[in-house]
Amino acid sequence: MILRIPDVLSPESVKTARELLDSANWIDGAATAGGQAAKAKHNLQLAQDDPTALKLGEEIRQALATNPLFMSAALPLTLLPPMFNKYTGGGSFGTHVDNAIRHIPGTGQRIRTDLSATLFLSEPDEYEGGVLNIEDTYGAQEVKLPAGHMILYPSTSLHHVTPVTSGARVSSFFWIQSMVRDDTQRSLLFDLDCSIQNLGVAAPDNEAVGQSSVQLTGIYHNLIRQWAEV
Ligand code: NI
Repeated sequence: MILRIPDVLSPESVKTARELLDSANWIDGAATAGGQAAKAKHNLQLAQDDPTALKLGEEIRQALATNPLFMSAALPLTLLPPMFNKYTGGGSFGTHVDNAIRHIPGTGQRIRTDLSATLFLSEPDEYEGGVLNIEDTYGAQEVKLPAGHMILYPSTSLHHVTPVTSGARVSSFFWIQSMVRDDTQRSLLFDLDCSIQNLGVAAPDNEAVGQSSVQLTGIYHNLIRQWAEV
């Protein structure tokens, strides 16, 4: 499932983040990529221990923790600290699949990357190109979102970023280990959760709907019990 999550950051938060990022210390993005990915990766990045990255990363983590759509869709177990990149002057990232295992810096803890996320911090009209192209079972999806919006997609997907031919594309990117490893199971749980929420909104005072809603909520939790690792 590829899911767009709007308004992860408010316009004010995006503005503050961009001011900090404009004066940050950008380094060659290939430094943090594996051998094969490094050849395909042509962008700039903040070091993982960069103070700006740590500060903004924490803000993003807090925003996600209170975002119901993200929590329902990702069922996160562990989030890697958000990283930041910038594409400019023809920068691009060729077709690749993200590494399956990543280390959380300074901890020795490893996570399995089930979900990849890109949070856009530039408005689409600030740059030409820079489209995130994700291949899924229904074909290629082209993604270029407003600043503050995020795309969540299975880390198993082949994807690439087209060259940024003018302007600059700044974004945050990170990975999530989900409590539910399998994308199909996670998508079913998300659909079920959305349906339960919709029932409550559509008929808040209907007794029969209320009883069904309780049953469906029970099924939701019992499926989580079957499928989740915590
Ligand atoms: Ni990638």
